[in-house]
Amino acid sequence: MNISWADGEVLFDLIIKNNYKKALEIGTSTGHSAIWIAWALSKTGGKLITVEINEYRYKNALENFKEAGLSNYIDARLADAHELVPKLKGPFDFVFVDADKNWYKNYLKLLLPKLEVDGCFTAHNVSSRRTRGIREFIEYLRSLPNMETTIDRSSWSGISISYKKSDSQIII
Ligand SMILES: C[S@@+](CC[C@H](N)C(=O)[O-])C[C@H]1O[C@@H](n2cnc3c(N)ncnc32)[C@H](O)[C@@H]1O
Repeated sequence: MNISWADGEVLFDLIIKNNYKKALEIGTSTGHSAIWIAWALSKTGGKLITVEINEYRYKNALENFKEAGLSNYIDARLADAHELVPKLKGPFDFVFVDADKNWYKNYLKLLLPKLEVDGCFTAHNVSSRRTRGIREFIEYLRSLPNMETTIDRSSWSGISISYKKSDSQIII
């Protein structure tokens, strides 16, 4: 369930390259991707909010953050992201979504207004085009004139990388 080493490097490099500091992750699981993100943020001086709905995995992630020496860079929340995300104030300059695929489009809609211009919205497992939620998410993403999207295929999972170029939005 955790991201691969190659995908971790993609997230790490994006944060370092763009000097991102305000990150959000949806779908902590046991914290593997959060550790890659927080490791990068420890170098840029940023902080990560990460959300997980499963208590066992959330607790496991907390232990892993401690062991990695990165707890200070991570605000881990035990919550249903469907409920928490609308309440998060933002702004964010980096978002990584790796939770329920059928909700990806909703996460994007909720988070776009909270994403800074030149910020980046990334999503995992976008190569699974047989999943309806992924198809709808990618179609929606590509319909947004202010988002510049590429797909990184460093691993078989695929990560969509979308830069927000302006605040203008069309609502579909
Ligand atoms: C593929 S795993 C995440 C793996 C993690 N990003 C990593 O690479 O270490 C997906 C996680 O999303 C969580 N999840 C699913 N729906 C969620 C929701 N509505 N709110 C918060 N977390 C959710 C699952 O419990 C699961 O642990």
